[in-house]
Amino acid sequence: MRIVRTVAELRETVGAHRAAGRRIGLVPTMGALHEGHLSLIRAARAGSDVVVVSVFVNPTQFDDPADLAAYPRAEDADVALAASAGADLVFAPEAPELYPSGYATTVTVTGPVTETLEGAERGRGHFDGVATVVAKLLVAVAPDAAWFGAKDAQQVVVVRRVVADLGLPVRIEVGPTVREPDGLAMSSRNVRLSPDDRVRALALSRALRAVQGAADDGADAATARDAGLKELATAGVAPEYLALADPDTLEPVATLDRPALALVAARVGEVRLIDNLLIDPF
Ligand code: PAJ
Repeated sequence: MRIVRTVAELRETVGAHRAAGRRIGLVPTMGALHEGHLSLIRAARAGSDVVVVSVFVNPTQFDDPADLAAYPRAEDADVALAASAGADLVFAPEAPELYPSGYATTVTVTGPVTETLEGAERGRGHFDGVATVVAKLLVAVAPDAAWFGAKDAQQVVVVRRVVADLGLPVRIEVGPTVREPDGLAMSSRNVRLSPDDRVRALALSRALRAVQGAADDGADAATARDAGLKELATAGVAPEYLALADPDTLEPVATLDRPALALVAARVGEVRLIDNLLIDPF
């Protein structure tokens, strides 16, 4: 297991593997690795000859400086966990390596994909930051495939747009959301939940299951959404949004006549959480 800090060293190492005909897989992360990340690293391991994991708390995608400052960092543990899941290389740069002095280029995905849901709540700078750093990582590593989690559904749509629009020669793979046994979607932020808030946080996954349950009973989209809102209200959790959207475009879905993504975001105590579930009306 190697740790590299510079793009030059990364290019040299990965380039030697590529020249030897090996397939390169990339798993971009912000560290504080948990089972959700590790499932992606294992999937990358199964589908590649060389697995690169990037660990970089990307400052440009944080709208709130306090959130950036509070973001958990655990590099030594991350390196050990990444290795145990099958990573060959950890790319862990300092911020100036990716954003050198004078840096002035941003990748912006325009349109509804970045203006709704997370884009509306966190401000458009969030997805600019994600699109920019993911584009930079894909250019620096030049992997055959890169793995992302369904947990961040809107991020996947944005990344696919960047790859298509910039013509980047990479396959985007998506792994399912990994949950705690009680249903809470794993997140690096969960460690910041107080014991009480950890219990209240379960309302998000419960709300999504309530939407699915109502859809199973034949409810229309608005009624199914109400079932989810009720779960959140019962737990005293005020959602930033609970929406039904097209899984590919994230445009609002008014009629449950085909699979739709239910997406929820809420602040629980100090911690902002998101989750989603594919609702199959059949
Ligand atoms: P981070 O939140 O560290 O997540 C890294 C990857 O792990 C993302 O693709 C995310 O969707 C996935 N992931 C997180 N929790 C998961 C879970 N419970 N189950 C499955 N996958 C999960 O997302 C980012 O970092 C950043 O925005 C990044 C893409 C690295 C760009 O900075």
